[in-house]
Amino acid sequence: MIVLGIETSCDETAAAIVEGKKAGTQNFVSVRSNVVSSQIEIHKKYGGVVPEVAAREHILNILPVVDEALAKAGIERGRAAKEIDAIAVTVGPGLITSLIVGVETAKTLSYVWGIPLVAVNHIEGHIYANFVSVNSPPSPRLRRASKFPILILTVSGGHTMLVLMSGHGKYKVIGETRDDAAGEAFDKAAKLLSLGYPGGPAIAAEAAKFQIPNSKFQINSKFKIQNSKNIILPRPMINSDDYDFSFSGLKTALLYKLKKDKMWKRRIPEYCAQFQQAAIDVLIAKTLKAAGNYKVKTIMLTGGVAANKELRGQMEEMIKTRLPKTKYLIPNIQYTTDNAAMVATAGYFRALKKDFIPWPKIKVDPNLELSARG
Ligand code: KG4
Ligand code: ZN
Repeated sequence: MIVLGIETSCDETAAAIVEGKKAGTQNFVSVRSNVVSSQIEIHKKYGGVVPEVAAREHILNILPVVDEALAKAGIERGRAAKEIDAIAVTVGPGLITSLIVGVETAKTLSYVWGIPLVAVNHIEGHIYANFVSVNSPPSPRLRRASKFPILILTVSGGHTMLVLMSGHGKYKVIGETRDDAAGEAFDKAAKLLSLGYPGGPAIAAEAAKFQIPNSKFQINSKFKIQNSKNIILPRPMINSDDYDFSFSGLKTALLYKLKKDKMWKRRIPEYCAQFQQAAIDVLIAKTLKAAGNYKVKTIMLTGGVAANKELRGQMEEMIKTRLPKTKYLIPNIQYTTDNAAMVATAGYFRALKKDFIPWPKIKVDPNLELSARG
């Protein structure tokens, strides 16, 4: 089955063509094309995404991006109606005017080409980045890891969630951020440190220049911060009884440290490393706790912050040590931040169940929740 995916929920205009196949008893996709037109350069000068500007850019970019995705997949425009089996599009959550551009485009193509439409939740798309097979046929690692129940840590600019997945399309959100999302915290911290937008990659790059001394001794096994001469930042809610997160206090703690330190500009890598480590500690602690309590078979990471190499590596180490029987899967870096291959993949699994929506009925929902649609 060939699926065209379209994603315009924030500041990336993206289209992709994926091919879904059966491998044994499981289904996987391989990516035939994945085109992302990023608006980062445009929004950089404003220090964040300006919704009106984003929507205008999507309007200008969407058809060229779809056209490029078709061409790269070797599908002639005139044959698209025959070769494509479904069109999957992000309907929410996201910026309403940005979402509308993708949805109206998908709707129009569905109407003209007579191809069924699939509505995809953006978070579901991020989750399915893990089901994209880089190899065809899928690697044994991917096959083994795609067994339910799966726990997914979704960490992006807009969301921080622990999601329990009991089957394809079956989700239960067991923990969420109570204030800022993890990526948002990175972006705000980067602003405080004058590192520009987007903050995650900038903080990670600076943090890589600094090795936290005695990092193992800073936090004991119960994640209590011990005395240290280093810049120590809090690990909010790390010992709370639930699976929720809070990152706004971490950002405020950084702000106060910077205000007190006249020489902070000389210690940017150290501040970045400590900030990054504080966020990672909380994310890992909560994920491991949930994975143990719910006895999941696999832990997956996803969302823009899942591009963070330290998070990817440290999570792997901790799972190996503390939950050695649990599998760990992370998306290929190019599918962590917003893209349409992940949306097309989620769409493929819905299309298998004939979960189509007639074009007159598809609607955007900027506050769409991740629910178990079955
Ligand atoms: O998933 P995404 O592209 O968009 C949303 O759905 O929000 O995530 C973007 C977020 C931004 O906050 C960005 O700073 C963060 O992901 N990010 C990172 C890294 N790369 C992107 N955060 C930490 N480390 C990174 N390497
Ligand atoms: Zn996203």
